[in-house]
Amino acid sequence: MKTIHDWVDQLICGDALQVLPEMPSEFVDAVVTDPPYFLDKLDNQWSLEQVEKRLPSQRVITHLPPGMKFDPNQGREFYRWFLKVAQELLRILKPGGFFFCFSSPRLYHRLTAAVEDAGFWIRDSFIWLYLQNQPKAMGLDHFIERLPVSEAVKQQLKAKLRGWKTPQVKSCYEPIVVAQKPYEGTLLENMLKHQVGLFNTEVRIGSNMYPANVLIVDSFGAMLDRYFLVPKPDVQEKGAYNTHPSVKPVALCEHLIRLSTLPQAIVLDPFIGSGTTAIAARSTGRHFIGVDINPEYIAIAQRRLSEWSPSLFQEDAP
Ligand SMILES: C[S@@+](CC[C@H](N)C(=O)[O-])C[C@H]1O[C@@H](n2cnc3c(N)ncnc32)[C@H](O)[C@@H]1O
Repeated sequence: MKTIHDWVDQLICGDALQVLPEMPSEFVDAVVTDPPYFLDKLDNQWSLEQVEKRLPSQRVITHLPPGMKFDPNQGREFYRWFLKVAQELLRILKPGGFFFCFSSPRLYHRLTAAVEDAGFWIRDSFIWLYLQNQPKAMGLDHFIERLPVSEAVKQQLKAKLRGWKTPQVKSCYEPIVVAQKPYEGTLLENMLKHQVGLFNTEVRIGSNMYPANVLIVDSFGAMLDRYFLVPKPDVQEKGAYNTHPSVKPVALCEHLIRLSTLPQAIVLDPFIGSGTTAIAARSTGRHFIGVDINPEYIAIAQRRLSEWSPSLFQEDAP
């Protein structure tokens, strides 16, 4: 039987739904994660063929059906899978421990319902705003071209529908569900017994402002920067070799970790990708546990961790 020490500061390659059940109960202080809302940036190209063609090395979530053309049932499929993940996370977290889960605007409601139905309390929803993202909408010329009508009619139709695309605007935010495992007794009693349950409001954002539920890492102009800015990531922090398609900013994860845990706490990410949460945990003087199904991402995470100089760590005062 593995002990807590066998898990702490480890990156484990495996399916979260197989690895999590092996972990002990009630030993993790916080979960910070960015699950594969089965997109992995594949958007509507998510046939198995496309996955293999576009990301040959990427192994994808095994518990959800492939097929990422817009499908109104996707959310329900996602819910069924994520409910099982969230139930495991609830068992592994200490009472009062926080669960921060990045999401997509389209699936946020299902993700949150799964987390709540697993037994967590939903405490808030944070929003990470950003500017850079490619619009994903498709025009219909390609389909018009295939219609059994004359060339003249096709041209008329194309002119009529110019600018009309599939209903997707540019996505410029990610919601982050903020959930808490029910605490024991009062919040004070829980904090004293388990060292989790409260937020550290001395953690500041922007120009020394009280923590808010809107977060930005790009500069948006003086007013927004003043209230919501956490430092912007750069290429160095990501690692030039990092081929992961959806790397989160370290600073964002550091902020969530500092807000919700004490130094030396254990932070779990069951979908660690290229290791961002592990780096954020280490740089804030916390411990990490990371799981990912893709061995290549685990290797990137290991390399990022090994290259992250201890001199860069800003250990929080104990
Ligand atoms: C959105 S990415 C996480 C990116 C990460 N936050 C970063 O900054 O690099 C989701 C990750 O979940 C992994 N994944 C997909 N299905 C999984 C499963 N069943 N168990 C564990 N990991 C899985 C993918 O390989 C991918 O790296």
